Amino acid sequence: MSKNVEPALAALFEAARTAQGAAYAPYSRFKVGAALRTPSGAIFAGCNVENAAYPQGACAEAGAISAMALAGERSIAEILVIGDGEGLCTPCGGCRQRIREFAAPETPVHVAGPHGLRLTLTLAELLPYSFGPENLRS
Ligand code: THU
Repeated sequence: MSKNVEPALAALFEAARTAQGAAYAPYSRFKVGAALRTPSGAIFAGCNVENAAYPQGACAEAGAISAMALAGERSIAEILVIGDGEGLCTPCGGCRQRIREFAAPETPVHVAGPHGLRLTLTLAELLPYSFGPENLRS
């Protein structure tokens, strides 16, 4: 990761890259890591965990969010996803919704590859007109 990147983002990248190394992806061979930072400054990471019953596989973002919830935290300030390959490893549709539960429209979602950061979007850009907890309020 470039030395010009802010330290907080570099830490997120390193956490996601380490998590990517732990991914269990024998079927797709596409290892993904995710790391999120909460307002407290804590970082939680996850990796994809596939399954012989293919639809039971879990995305990296889901693991990072589970780790955050287990620690009692409920807010995503920033999240980074890393995957290999030429295409961008943007969060899948289901994970956009998972992130939405704990993030604000302006929350940055960083997309990275092996050589560093590739793109930063806001959650609202990834998931416009989304449905979240506020939509349930009467
Ligand atoms: N994958 C993730 O973990 N996160 C994403 O946002 C995109 C896709 C995983 C799921 C599956 O294990 C593999 O990448 C190929 O789709």
